[in-house]
Amino acid sequence: MDNFYITTAIDYVNGSPHLGHAYEKVLTDVIARIRRMMGDRVHFLTGVDEHGQKVQQSARKRGIAPQQFCDEVSAEFRAMLTKLNVSNDDFIRTTEERHKRVVRDILQRLFDKGEIYKAEYQGYYSTRQEQFLQEKDRNPDGTWPEIFGDVMEITETNYFFKLRQYQDWLVQFLTENENFVFPKFRQKQVLEFLKEPLNDLCISRPKERLEWGIPLPFDENFVTYVWFDALVNYVSAVADQPGVWPANWHVIGKDILVPPHAVYWPIMLQAAGLPLPKGIIAHGWWSFKGAKMSKSTGNVIAPAAFVDEFGADALRYFFLREMSVGQDSDFTDLQFKARYNADLANNLGNLLNRTLNMSNRFTAGVVPAAGADGEPETELRALWEQTRAEVPQLWNGFQFHLALERTIAFVTATNAYIEKRAPWKLGKSANPADQALLGTSLATMAEALRLAAALLRPFIPDSVAKIHAALGHTPSADWAQECAWGGCLQGAKLAPSLVLFPRIQSEEKPPAKP
Ligand code: ME8
Ligand code: MG
Repeated sequence: MDNFYITTAIDYVNGSPHLGHAYEKVLTDVIARIRRMMGDRVHFLTGVDEHGQKVQQSARKRGIAPQQFCDEVSAEFRAMLTKLNVSNDDFIRTTEERHKRVVRDILQRLFDKGEIYKAEYQGYYSTRQEQFLQEKDRNPDGTWPEIFGDVMEITETNYFFKLRQYQDWLVQFLTENENFVFPKFRQKQVLEFLKEPLNDLCISRPKERLEWGIPLPFDENFVTYVWFDALVNYVSAVADQPGVWPANWHVIGKDILVPPHAVYWPIMLQAAGLPLPKGIIAHGWWSFKGAKMSKSTGNVIAPAAFVDEFGADALRYFFLREMSVGQDSDFTDLQFKARYNADLANNLGNLLNRTLNMSNRFTAGVVPAAGADGEPETELRALWEQTRAEVPQLWNGFQFHLALERTIAFVTATNAYIEKRAPWKLGKSANPADQALLGTSLATMAEALRLAAALLRPFIPDSVAKIHAALGHTPSADWAQECAWGGCLQGAKLAPSLVLFPRIQSEEKPPAKP
């Protein structure tokens, strides 16, 4: 059994969760569920980033203590995970002692090794991104890119971590590990960034400017820079679980790849003598009706309200079907409803309904034995063999949108198979050949539904559990076994009926195709 450790970014608690956060957690959950299904020993970590200027400011605005503020907002993030059926094994908060202890240890270790020094800092700071900026980060016209929000100039004495001396090492590491960052074009961006000389990293804030942080173990007048604190969560959360670190994948958004995850983090680990993660997945950003979605701009959709209306699986399916991992996507109600109706209500839901209805109508709800395959069965079976071979490869390459497309294409083909066999006609015939064919077609549709469910399980786990229950089926713990076409359901007693995805009625018409 292989260990598989996967993490998400830990979200700032300066505001409530939005669909962008929900997406990342669901994407990571799908990967975790796939690995578990394949038999790995999975550890899936997520959590919240509770220190820093941004959180301190938000707490002040509410007029409450930062810890109380964090407690409240963290609870919302946790509730979002439950709502979305995210199967994380652990949830870390950076205000927990288990985390602070490891941050202090690493800082002390680096300080003792002479990797940290004190100097005057003069430069710019983006609170929105909690990031130190340089002149080269400006737009050509001298303004700061919108993503940084308000930028302030600071001059103060601080502690610095000797990042620069690791630059050549990092370039070499990335050159030798060309799949460290997924997608590949993002790895190129990291190398592009590393063409300019790195500055040493300012890792402290004086207490008079920022109180809400972890005090430096070697100087109590300073707290730790929030990124130096936050990144350590991946290690601190498993510090007492030998053999879990290093992570297989850190799943994060593209905005926090360079420099935090692809530059600071590998260097911090290397300097501290810890192994590096095996890779980083940098996903794209969701916009909402064309506009950037973020806590700071207020353009957000609350995932909880969405799930209440359409169900967690509808949202999970949409996220993974719609976004190609690494690319950006736009979220619109219209697109959501179109996908939902086409793929889930009219296709998968329809197959389930027909399977249950016809079996109940003609064979008392019991799946009959299949007779010899005719051409329609042979064709469907060939498509299954192809789908079952292709889909796991697409999963391995994080091509989930394509994997779902292929999976749903198999469902479509099964519905087309039903049209071809027309069991409703066969059922009315007293001819023994027609009766045998009826048995074959009912058995085939139930089997095809069971197989489609095996490929949909990591994406829409709750619905698949309901499909299994309706089919009277307990899935095999051996995934290859579960994917074998072979009349597994013969004799199973099916539920009378089940509507999984009620059709969404919509007054709006989809836009005309150009
Ligand atoms: O960056 N679409 O926290 P955060 C997709 N605390 N993903 C989005 C998104 C959108 N519209 N908006 C945000 C932080 N995200 C740090 C991380 S990790 C050690 C510390 C993603 O709350 C974003 O890219 O600003 C990031 O991966 C995650 O949500 C948390 O963002
Ligand atoms: Mg952010």
